[in-house]
Amino acid sequence: MEKTATKTKDKAAPFYAVIVAAGSGARMGADVPKQYMNIAGRPVLRHTLERFLACPGLRGIHVVINPAHRALYDAATAGLALPAPINGGDTRKDSVFNGLESFSKLTYNDTILIHDAARPFITPAEIAVLVDSIQTYEAATLAVPVADSLRHGDQQDDAKARAFVDRKGLLAIQTPQAFRYGVIMESHNKADPANEWTDDTGLASAAGFDVAVVTGKRQNFKITTADDLEMADNLMRGTDSMRTRTGMGFDVHAFAQIMGGPVRLCGVDVDHPHRLYGHSDADVALHAITDALLGAIAAGDIGEHFPPTDPQWKGLDSAYFLSEAVRMITDKKGEIVNIDVTIICESPKIGPHRAKMQERVAEICNIAVDQVNIKATTTEKMGFTGREEGIAAQAIATVQVP
Ligand code: CTP
Ligand code: MG
Repeated sequence: MEKTATKTKDKAAPFYAVIVAAGSGARMGADVPKQYMNIAGRPVLRHTLERFLACPGLRGIHVVINPAHRALYDAATAGLALPAPINGGDTRKDSVFNGLESFSKLTYNDTILIHDAARPFITPAEIAVLVDSIQTYEAATLAVPVADSLRHGDQQDDAKARAFVDRKGLLAIQTPQAFRYGVIMESHNKADPANEWTDDTGLASAAGFDVAVVTGKRQNFKITTADDLEMADNLMRGTDSMRTRTGMGFDVHAFAQIMGGPVRLCGVDVDHPHRLYGHSDADVALHAITDALLGAIAAGDIGEHFPPTDPQWKGLDSAYFLSEAVRMITDKKGEIVNIDVTIICESPKIGPHRAKMQERVAEICNIAVDQVNIKATTTEKMGFTGREEGIAAQAIATVQVP
């Protein structure tokens, strides 16, 4: 039977996952096992885990590692919500088995996926189709038809390249592979120890279970050699590895009627009879921008990071808050695409200061001037801004994060 990995269901079916990452990457031949090497600035394992963690149906995930790599593992997974890793074994099969056993509380019909850490291009959509197929089948794997011609041979010796293999009907098997928990446990328990199993659906077939084949994508290749790592790095750096995210911010500050100007807006001091009242310098526009950036990376809001009750922020230049939000984006290897601000007030007039404000915001955010837009509006003398009781500002920011 064949399915195509394209759709996701309305309500995600629950599943568990074992990620095997205990190999040494001998064919890569690097100092560090391949799953801990960086592609697009982050370890292969982290990319893989983030894709699983993005699946709404995921109920539990156990990563199997070589305990000798614990420090590499800790660095690669910092900040991810994961239980302690499971120790692997000498062969992939042993590592898988340890991972499966660590889920001993599962029942026969629970769905479990087994995936190679070295395949970071897996998508939540493909995972969802595999999980769904276990509603009907006992086991399922992603696979792609073999595209290249095949022959036996020895890379070092042309003369040894003789016997051709007909590629028709041949499938290259990928992971994830999905199983009913009882099916894969039984398959492992029955497995012939003399056989070097590299594929868990092979074990299931040998134990007499039917394996459904879900057509996968070539992009879900397994990083094996240095050549693969280079390809993976290029692919991961491609545009679809960056997600576009948007955040909005809104802030209001009242005029301090008894204190003289200027007002500070977008980091620029503008003449005005009164300054704005606030704990910091009350730069309402920079506060709105800061909130928009924090919003885009799901990092809460300005009050959470810099509580107004904390004396250390008293009278502070709000450029500091904004630059901290920018730093949080940079820490995530993200980039600001653009910022758009609307200042809402009857006075001061913003137009004459617009260019200076644009430059200052660009400078604080470390982006180009044409990535920042400043505009202003009145509220036609209506409401608190119309009565000149204070100034409001709205901002929207777009960022790209890996
Ligand atoms: N794996 C594992 N335990 C092992 C061997 C492999 O958990 N004893 C994992 C690898 O970390 C990898 C996946 O199984 O994520 C697929 O194996 P493979 O691509 O062969 O990785 P390595 O064994 O690390 O590479 P090599 O065969 O080149 O040494
Ligand atoms: Mg191996």
